[in-house]
Order: sequence, then C-alpha cells, then structure tokens
Amino acid sequence: MAVLASGRGSNLQAILDAIAGGRLAAEVAGVFSDRASAQALERAQAAGVPAHALSPRGFASRAAFDDALFAAVDALGPDLVVCAGYMRLIDPGVITPRAGRVINIHPSLLPAFKGLHTHRQALQAGVAEHGASVHFVSADLDGGPVVAQARVPVQPGDEEHALAARVLAREHPLLVETLRLFAAGRIALREDRVHFDGRPLTAPLQL
Ligand code: GAR
Repeated sequence: MAVLASGRGSNLQAILDAIAGGRLAAEVAGVFSDRASAQALERAQAAGVPAHALSPRGFASRAAFDDALFAAVDALGPDLVVCAGYMRLIDPGVITPRAGRVINIHPSLLPAFKGLHTHRQALQAGVAEHGASVHFVSADLDGGPVVAQARVPVQPGDEEHALAARVLAREHPLLVETLRLFAAGRIALREDRVHFDGRPLTAPLQL
C-alpha cells in the first residue's frame, strides 16, 4: 500500500506496528505527505519506509497537484492507497479512475458528521454514540461507501479532547483490521457497493 498522511501519523504507526508485529501481511511501499513537517514522515523513515513530501504550493490547481501526487504514488504500484489523517480533498478526476483502490479513515460514524471537527459536531448534536469509519474514497467528501465502523459511547460531560482520544484508540485497530480483510481479498468495491466475501454489504462491518 501507499499511505497519505498530513500530520501526526498515529494511524500510520498502527499500520507499521501491525506489519512489524506480524499481524498484517502487507507492505507500506511509501508514505506521502502534503506537509514537509508532518510527523508521519518521521515515523515512515524510522520504519525504513520511503517518505515523500509534496507541497501543493506551486501547483496551479487541485487537479494538477493530485495528478503529480498520484503519479508518484502509482510509480510504487500499490494495490491500495490509504488516507490516514490526510487532510486534503482529492480531485474527482484522480479518484474516479481509482475507485475501489483508495480508502480513508474518518473520525465519525458516517454518514454523520462529515468534514472537520467531527468530535465537536457530535457533542453539539448530543448523540449518544460516536466513532470512526473506514470508507472507499469517492468524488463526494467523506461520502464514499463505508466498509467498517467502530462505535464509541459518548459519556456524560464528555469534552472534545477526551472523546477524540477515545475514538482515536479505536481507529487504530479498526484501520488495521480493515486492511487485514482487504489484504485477504475479502473486501472489494463492485458497482459502487462494498462486497464482503463476495456478497454486497447491507451495513458497514462493526469492528
Ligand atoms: C484521525 O483521527 C483521522 O481519523 C482524522 O485525522 C486524524 C489523524 O490522526 N482524519 C480526518 O479527519 C480525515 N477527514 P493521525 O495523523 O494521528 O493518524
């Protein structure tokens, strides 16, 4: 796989640790970031994984940047591109031909709370349950078919940082387990629907 990450890279670290620990039969062929200062790049280097920074500055358009980024990604020949804390929208012209080969982890129970500040959104909405989702990336922001989710109860008096930390702790095993299923050939996107063990999923896997 190739991993795209903009910041801290704890989800990337969970992937690298699972591979190093023999819990995920996969390889991270490269890590790419739109921010040269991303901690994710240091984590990649520490694991001996090629790390690449590409700044959107200097590109005339989103499409031009994404074309350049995905040309570099494609050069590695990944079966899957994993957006793990990648905070940029990807141009539909780049995503559409790669449908089923790009996944994203998002910190909410999609379709609830798309976009940014999802924990704040959840607290403001007063929901009893929050969580994280792994979905195939489509041209719609945070709108592609959901593969798997982890549910986290909201506690009385919860505040944003505490809730975010509890969700993050569930994101790591959620992402690793979803990648395990993908690597085992058990998950695929066909005709815009997630298939699990060859059958269309009627609801996201609960992991
Ligand atoms: C994670 O919570 C991830 O779900 C979220 O950013 C964080 C990155 O943490 N992604 C998004 O909000 C994407 N829209 P990490 O850099 O430590 O993996």
